[in-house]
Formats: sequence, structure tokens, C-alpha cells
Amino acid sequence: MSNVILVASGKGGTGKTMFSVNLGCAISSFGNKVVIVDMDMGMRNLDMYLGLEGQVVYDTYDALKGICNTKQALIKDDKFKNVSIMAASPVNEEGSILEEDVEKLFEELKSKFDYIVIDGPPGIGDNIEAVASHIDTGIVVLTPDYAAIRDADSVDSFLLRKRIKNRYYVVNKAVLTLEKRGLEVKLDEIDSIMKSNPLGAIAYDENIHISTNIGVPIVSKPDAYITKNFLKIAKRIIES
Ligand SMILES: Nc1ncnc2c1ncn2[C@@H]1O[C@H](COP(=O)(O)OP(=O)(O)O)[C@@H](O)[C@H]1O
Ligand SMILES: [Mg+2]
Repeated sequence: MSNVILVASGKGGTGKTMFSVNLGCAISSFGNKVVIVDMDMGMRNLDMYLGLEGQVVYDTYDALKGICNTKQALIKDDKFKNVSIMAASPVNEEGSILEEDVEKLFEELKSKFDYIVIDGPPGIGDNIEAVASHIDTGIVVLTPDYAAIRDADSVDSFLLRKRIKNRYYVVNKAVLTLEKRGLEVKLDEIDSIMKSNPLGAIAYDENIHISTNIGVPIVSKPDAYITKNFLKIAKRIIES
């Protein structure tokens, strides 16, 4: 049985694509076959964060609409052998993705992969509505500021309404020195606002920023503290 994970957020730029890539690679390192599907239509980034942009011919939209077959839209990563991706389409037409398109594609992906990680758009749109019935695990990525937390809570309420079994949140871009000085929302306070379960916190680190820019996931560095953090998060998901 494969596990379908939606990576969502209230606001844009919280780190969904960075998180999807590193979570997917971390889950694969435990021997699982993983596909990361970019569904942030119009804002295609996932392929770049893995350095695969030169290999995109067909995208998620093409696979959904039968313009190509599923295999043609899958790109295998060269560093993480158990990871494949599907790139987002460069344009977003609201309402164009239908539940029946999703049904067909996801049934096929479920037969090929142990984990399907969906890199979602910010907020709740038609594309999320169309995939909602397939989601087992919803992870909302937020940053430690009140606006991001409030919007994250709204997205989490949507996931709750859709009866998604496992709901988590991740605090990304945390700056411990600011938190200690009371200049950033504390993790305890975030936890008191959010109704889902905490999955982990990821520090603001320029190495993460560099990694997405050069197209090499940070979890490629086996000894980095961030890699260890991602492996812990991946293990929690696998065991949930
Ligand atoms: N923990 C982090 N530390 C430093 N930079 C980060 C971190 N997480 C994400 N970023 C950077 O923030 C930007 C937005 O991240 P991205 O994953 O594209 O967000 P989203 O997909 O939610 O729009 C990128 O430039 C990325 O490198
Ligand atoms: Mg993104």
C-alpha cells in the first residue's frame, strides 16, 4: 500500500519544494521507491531543486490529460536511484484538473511507488481539491511568523474537513537565536495554535538556500546535521 503525502502551506515561499525534495530523498534512503509530483502548476521549481530541469519533456499536466503516458512524464533522479519526479506544467488553468484525471494517474503511480510526495501550491485551490481524496498524510510547512501560522492553520482545517488521516506541520526557517531572544514566535506557541501534530523544525541555514540554487538536495551530504534531521522526519512518516 503506498502512502500519498501532500506538502502544503498557507503562504508561498515557506519551503514546500525544498521540503518535498529532501523528504522524498530521505524516505527513499530507507529502501522505498518514491515519486515526487510537482503540482504547483505555473510555478515549476521541483525539477530545478534536483538539477533535472534539462530532462523535462512531459509534465504532470500531460500525464493527467493523457497527452503522454505516465512513464514518459517520470524523470529518474541520477543521485537518488529510488527517486523519480514529475515536473509541474508551466501554466496553471484553474479548474482544468479533474478528479477523474487524478484517479487514473494516481492508481498507476500507486502501483509503481511506495510513497507519492505531492509538492503542492500555496493555499487551497482546485488542484488540491482534485487530489484530496487520495491523500493519506498532509504536511503543512510554515515559517515562524504569525501570518504564516494563521494561513497554515486554515490549510490544516481544510485537510481536517477532507478527513485526512495523518496531519502534521513543520516549522521551517527557524532561527534559534531569535527565538531565544523572544524575537520570533516560539515553537511552543506555534504548537498551541496548530491543531495538527508537530513533525519537526528545520533551521534557517544558508546551505539549504545554496542547495536549492545549485540543484543538489541538502540530504546528499550524509554527515550534515540537516540530513540527520530529515532522516528523523522521514522515519517518523514511515513509522506513522
Ligand atoms: N531552511 C531554509 N533555510 C534557508 N533557505 C531556505 C530554507 N527553506 C527554504 N529556503 C529557501 O527559500 C526559498 C523558497 O523555498 P521553496 O522551497 O521554493 O518554497 P515554496 O515551495 O514553499 O514556495 C528558496 O530560495 C529556498 O532555497
Ligand atoms: Mg514550491
